[in-house]
This record gives sequence, structure tokens and C-alpha cells, in this order.
Amino acid sequence: MQEQLKGIRDRVIQELSQAKDTSALEQLRVRVLGKKGELTEILRGMGKLPAELRPQMGQMVNSVREKLEEAISARQAELKEAEKNAKLAREVIDVTLPGKDRQAGSAHPITLVLNDLLEIFSGLGFMSVEGPEIEYDRYNFELLSVPKNHPARDAQDTFYVDDNVVLRSQTSPVQARVMTTQKPPIRIVSPGRVFRADELDATHSPVFHQFEGLCIDENITMGDLKGTLDEFARRMFGEGIKTRFRPSYFPFTEPSAEVDLTCANCHGAGCRMCKGTGWIEVLGAGMVNPHVLEMCGIDPGKYQGFAFGMGLERLAIIKYGIPDIRYLYENDVRFLSQFR
Ligand code: DAH
Repeated sequence: MQEQLKGIRDRVIQELSQAKDTSALEQLRVRVLGKKGELTEILRGMGKLPAELRPQMGQMVNSVREKLEEAISARQAELKEAEKNAKLAREVIDVTLPGKDRQAGSAHPITLVLNDLLEIFSGLGFMSVEGPEIEYDRYNFELLSVPKNHPARDAQDTFYVDDNVVLRSQTSPVQARVMTTQKPPIRIVSPGRVFRADELDATHSPVFHQFEGLCIDENITMGDLKGTLDEFARRMFGEGIKTRFRPSYFPFTEPSAEVDLTCANCHGAGCRMCKGTGWIEVLGAGMVNPHVLEMCGIDPGKYQGFAFGMGLERLAIIKYGIPDIRYLYENDVRFLSQFR
């Protein structure tokens, strides 16, 4: 038995040095010292020994046991340390490596011109309001003096949802919504998406953005409209930019005008962008038709108003010299990052 104990001890000490990791070590420990381990079995078998031999043998088993326990925990400490070091080595962070380059985004050119407009017109006392993109025919057309079968409907190829509901073809319905719910004085602007059944090409898109303005008060004249738009032109495109009013027709304004601005590209000298004229058409405007005021519940004998509407894409194209409207919808970062 003594020999057997010695054999176990030497073999285990040998195996200890070969245990690769803490879990191999634990298996070894269980195999020798566990409840069903080799040493435990020997201790159990002692019952069969003659009584006088038992104390001596018991002592021997226990001393081997203590020795092995010590050796195991020493080896365990060694392995744990090695495992910790391996983990630290694996997870080492090289703080001298260059960081990951995170590209900053940039505002879309339509957002940029919109922000300019909101700043300019809020400075002039206009409040920004928004209306729905899916709109009643009543606001998009009828209250703006465009009854069913009116020829002016043909000028805008409108998406009809049903007889009474359209995808708004302009932001002008917001005027009607405001006039039917608010009392003068009214000074609002209204940006938003509009829809027309147009094919996408270099200058058209079935979805685009407009910016509407409406001012209603006593003693409003075309001079107020001109002063307001002159100020807008200067603030938006710089000093020296002038407006030019050409007579035009819109059902909801009388008189109506199309408004050109000095070409921001050539400052009036004439270039490709303005087709040599020195002027660029930018918006529609006019004095609110008294009939519209009346339909919307505002007394045309007491109040007058002016209104205007312009396309945000067109402003962006002029301001930034963008050659094709489609660039504004493709969201190619090589294009967008130029507006950082
Ligand atoms: N709604 C017109 C359009 O889409 C633009 C317009 C013209 C708006 C004259 C107005 C206005 O408010 O007074 O072509």
C-alpha cells in the first residue's frame, strides 16, 4: 500500500506539470482527490486493514493528500496567472493606432436654401406653417378660384386620389387653410412637398418642394410685395440682385406676376444659365384675388393681401449652380459632401 501511495503521488506530480490549463487541472484533481478519486478510494479501503495498521496508514494517506493539495493549488496559481497574461496579451489595445475616420454628414442643398428662406422671412415677420401633402380638392383648387373644369387645372398635371382628394400640386392650399381659420393680419410662409404627374428629367420631378408666402392686412399694396421680394432677393443671392415683375396669370391672384431675379451666375451680363438674358425666372406672385379672400371669409373691402410661391429645387439649382435637378434626389455622397 505504501508503494501504491508513492506511485500515485509521483505520477500525479508528474501529470501536474503537464496540465495545460485550469480545467485540465481540475479534472486531474477530481480524478485523484474527488469523492470517487483514487486517494479517496484508498482511504475507504482502509477498513479492511488490521486495526493496528490503520493509524499509520491513515497518516500516510493524509500526508500524501496534503502534499498533493498543495502541489495542485500551486500549479493552479501558475496556470491562472498564465491564462490572465494570455488574455491581457490577446486584448491589448494599441493606443497609437490611427482612429477610425467618421465622415461628418452635411445638410442637403434643399435644406440649406430652406433654412435661408426661413431666416429671411422670419426676420420680415412671417411665421412658418405647414399643411398636409394629401389635400382636399377644395383647398388645392376650389378656394383658390379654380373650380372643377376650369382650364387652369390643365396647367398642373395633378395626381387625384379620388374626386375630392389630391396630392397637392402646390403649397398654395396652405393659404386657403390659413385664411379660412385665422383673422388678419396674416403673415405666413409655408414650405413643403408638392406632386405633379411629370416625367423626371433634368428640370422636372414628379415630387418637388415649394415655398409659399402670404401676407394679408389693411392697406397692403403691390409695393409691399415688391419690397418684400426685393429684400428676399438681396438676402438670398447678394447685393445687386434685382427683381423684375412680368405680367402673368394665376387664378388666385389679381394682378399676377412672374418674377425674375438678376442672374446670380453672370450678374446680369448674360450667360448660359440665363440664356443670355441676364434674368432668371424664380417665382410666381400677385395680389390675392378679392374673390379668394371672400370665399375664405375675409372681407375684401377691408383687407388686401399679396402672395408668392417658388420652387426650392430651382433656388438651390441657381444658388449652387447645379446642372441637373436629379442630383438633388440621388443622394450621392460625392455630390452632397460638397455642401459641407
Ligand atoms: N402656386 C403657383 C404654382 O405652383 C405659384 C404661385 C403663384 C403661388 C402665385 C402664389 C402666387 O402664392 O401668388 O405655380
